[in-house]
Amino acid sequence: MGIRSPFKALLHYRSLLIGVFSLGCIGSVAALPPSANTIEPRIIGGKDVPDGKYPFLVGVGYPDDDDIFAGCGGTLVTPSIVMTAAHCVGLSTPADERLVVVGRTVITDTQTGKLHRVARIVRHPRFNGGESPRYDIGFIELAEPVADAALVTLPPKGQPSDQRTGELTTVAGWGRTNHPDIILDRLQEASVELLPPSRCSGYGVMYDPSLMLCAGSPGKDSCTGDSGGPLFSVAADGKIEQLGIVSYGWGCADPDYPGLYTWLGSADIWDTLAESPDGQYIKAMLDR
Ligand code: ARG
Repeated sequence: MGIRSPFKALLHYRSLLIGVFSLGCIGSVAALPPSANTIEPRIIGGKDVPDGKYPFLVGVGYPDDDDIFAGCGGTLVTPSIVMTAAHCVGLSTPADERLVVVGRTVITDTQTGKLHRVARIVRHPRFNGGESPRYDIGFIELAEPVADAALVTLPPKGQPSDQRTGELTTVAGWGRTNHPDIILDRLQEASVELLPPSRCSGYGVMYDPSLMLCAGSPGKDSCTGDSGGPLFSVAADGKIEQLGIVSYGWGCADPDYPGLYTWLGSADIWDTLAESPDGQYIKAMLDR
């Protein structure tokens, strides 16, 4: 069952762990504006994803009780490279203490999916750990490639993000929901609109429209634990175009503060990735 009773949820440590893991989430509680205290911190307004619907979406985390604790999402960009948020791989954890789970929809269902060890972690060289959501993109090279991997595709490099304004996209993850006191282990998805940059101006200097997307719909948003996961649209031919990476937000589903996503069409993000040797390697692998 994907839903636990409130009592079990209180005892279940997944919720606690999400809290701890998200310390690495940029914009911790201290960065919240006063008004955000009243906002329910909970993929908000989502619905259940059926088993196997989004096979390109993976869980990113660390070993826990012979399985994985996945505090973040990620996506397969090649059979051996997972793309996620830089802040999801931003702690000083070595690669051998990281894990990725592929092929799982109910995140605690140890009977499904496959655990993958990590060979190398690459953060964007310009990511400035925790102080700003700029360049919040990172990569995990798996020790073994995923067999028959389902991959995402990326938007044209150099496309201005406002060209996509008004588009209805999907965001999915295992992060916090708006169900009070229950933990949803099943992947959730919500449809969110790409908003004009002016809608995120409340973030001030934290928001850079050349590097980020501003997205949300009334009562729908990503939230803590969804980081690193995808904002995407499904083309007519069924191809997944991933436009953004869940990155940052003040509160969740607050109309004044929509979600901020790393904009994957940004030429700057890909060009500056080459400023580190590891970044250059990833850039070449992705032919970006
Ligand atoms: N930084 C958060 C994480 O690590 C994601 C926050 C997304 N917030 C939002 N309101 N869209 O999980």
